[in-house]
Amino acid sequence: MSPTTYNEIPLPSFLYGTAWKKEATTGLVELAVDSGFKGIDTANQLKHYDEARVGEALLALQKKGVRREDLFLQTKFTSIGGQDQRLPYDPSADPATQVRQSFESSLKHLHTDYLDSYVLHGPTFRRGLSAEDWDVWGAIEELYQAGKTKMIGASNVSAEQLALLCSKAKVKPMVVQNRCFAVMGWDYEVRKICAQHDLVYEGFSLLTANQEFFGAHELHGIAKRVGSGVAQVIFRFAQQVGMLPLTGTTDPQHMKEDLACERFTLTPEELQQIETIGVG
Ligand SMILES: NC(=O)c1ccc[n+]([C@@H]2O[C@H](COP(=O)([O-])OP(=O)(O)OC[C@H]3O[C@@H](n4cnc5c(N)ncnc54)[C@H](OP(=O)(O)O)[C@@H]3O)[C@@H](O)[C@H]2O)c1
Repeated sequence: MSPTTYNEIPLPSFLYGTAWKKEATTGLVELAVDSGFKGIDTANQLKHYDEARVGEALLALQKKGVRREDLFLQTKFTSIGGQDQRLPYDPSADPATQVRQSFESSLKHLHTDYLDSYVLHGPTFRRGLSAEDWDVWGAIEELYQAGKTKMIGASNVSAEQLALLCSKAKVKPMVVQNRCFAVMGWDYEVRKICAQHDLVYEGFSLLTANQEFFGAHELHGIAKRVGSGVAQVIFRFAQQVGMLPLTGTTDPQHMKEDLACERFTLTPEELQQIETIGVG
């Protein structure tokens, strides 16, 4: 099952992802929380996210009685390579200063004085970790040690990069956020490392990266048995194998359906069928 706590920090069972929502961000985040989502994922990266609009939703929710501590807020540091010209830091500053500036700007956008989770959006290269990655990670560790974020993590990491980070970091990551492909055993190698080191694995694009399997008769058979759609089966599978899934749905009905997957339980045989659906 999805972890419910990490070192006594309460974790949601689902994260609402705010990428690509543009001006609809505020309304959708409000709707997601009203629908029951307790975790929000964003990034200080205007190219794909609008953190300030997430913050506007949080203010509106506060007025309705939703307290800061009722929500799990996660955002990311994105280095220059992943940004457009609208940078949340001084591009001529050193990487550690950029992290601190980006973090402070995130706190302002989100109207808070702490984060639940702060994530390195991605290493510089596909393999290994660069000197800049280590400087960035060092600054993220300092934010954690200063108590400004309860958890820290990394996104878009390979198994090799994650193993390296876990072995060499002063403070190892607590969260990993990766695109989860069924053809890679649902990111099996990375999930294995997460299990070994007791890290939380957050899976994104669980639906969009795996459309080719949605016609599979196994999935439809399971969906029929539990009385749901295939999307819910995938999300429930993710939770039951220990992932914290993300959904970026913009549809109020899908928000309810995605959350409602917790109403049913897949059998060990069904979990095994889905685990191997892309690698058979
Ligand atoms: N770290 C990274 O680099 C990174 C990269 C990508 C994404 N992310 C995070 O992950 C979040 C989610 O991204 P994602 O790629 O998983 O999601 P997504 O691209 O937003 O995809 C969700 C898709 O699934 C559909 N969907 C959701 N629930 C459904 C249901 N019950 N039935 C049918 N269709 C359903 C949605 O359509 P409807 O809108 O019609 O429901 C949408 O097309 C992002 O918002 C972001 O926070 C992180």
